[in-house]
Amino acid sequence: MKNLFKRYPPLQIAMHIYAWSALVHILFDFITGNISPNPIQDLEQRTGRHAITLLVLCIACTPLNNIFGWRELIKRRRALGLYAFMYATIHILIFVNLDYGLAWSLIIQTVFEKPYIVVGLIAFLLLIPLAVTSFDIWKKRLGKNWKRLHQIIYWIAPLAVLHYAWGKKGDFFALQGEIIRPLIYAVIVILLLLVRIPPVRRAVASLRDRVLYLFRRKGTQPQANS
Ligand code: HEM
Repeated sequence: MKNLFKRYPPLQIAMHIYAWSALVHILFDFITGNISPNPIQDLEQRTGRHAITLLVLCIACTPLNNIFGWRELIKRRRALGLYAFMYATIHILIFVNLDYGLAWSLIIQTVFEKPYIVVGLIAFLLLIPLAVTSFDIWKKRLGKNWKRLHQIIYWIAPLAVLHYAWGKKGDFFALQGEIIRPLIYAVIVILLLLVRIPPVRRAVASLRDRVLYLFRRKGTQPQANS
């Protein structure tokens, strides 16, 4: 069993199950007609939400590893990013094909009429080079520039959240309308970006060390009644 978990870590299995089962679920609902009265919008929204969720999970790996020392997360970053790209691609294919029937002049007109779509487009265009160069061969070829290039992910995530929030009917500042979910993503992304700033990272690490120290001391103290 131990060997099996070593070969197929539970986190890896959970990630693949989530990514594929969500797609199967969407396809199943679409084929069986178990979908909202506006099926295309439903598909766009569901694929968009999976794309952004996987993207956020991807950028959460490094800070969570830094805080909790969970190295396994680092090994999952690439697949999470690629799954995010897969959902974003499906999301866009639904938009251009099912929603707009490949009517390119209408698509271009809509993109430029709706600023939140321009933001989504920028996020997607930035995701392409990351997906293409995510493989080891590119890591070797690009050397130090690989890391620099992949830092763009920290721009893509806020753009994706902006695209999400801007597309919703509501007022962020008055906290009215359909803003709760995008707001949750926004708060998570802001926190994940904040813990990348060196002084914040150091403060979080020292807090973690203090908490660990307290726990260890509690564990080694003799019981009062024994
Ligand atoms: C060319 C690029 C993109 C286009 C044309 C596009 C198009 C759209 C459209 C039309 C909607 C609104 C659906 C509706 O409520 O009627 C939408 C929503 C959304 N998109 Fe995109 N999108 C793009 C890129 C992205 C990317 C890169 C992500 C994430 C990584 C993303 C995530 C989302 C999310 C989370 C929603 C909101 C889902 C909801 O309302 O629950 N999109 N997108």
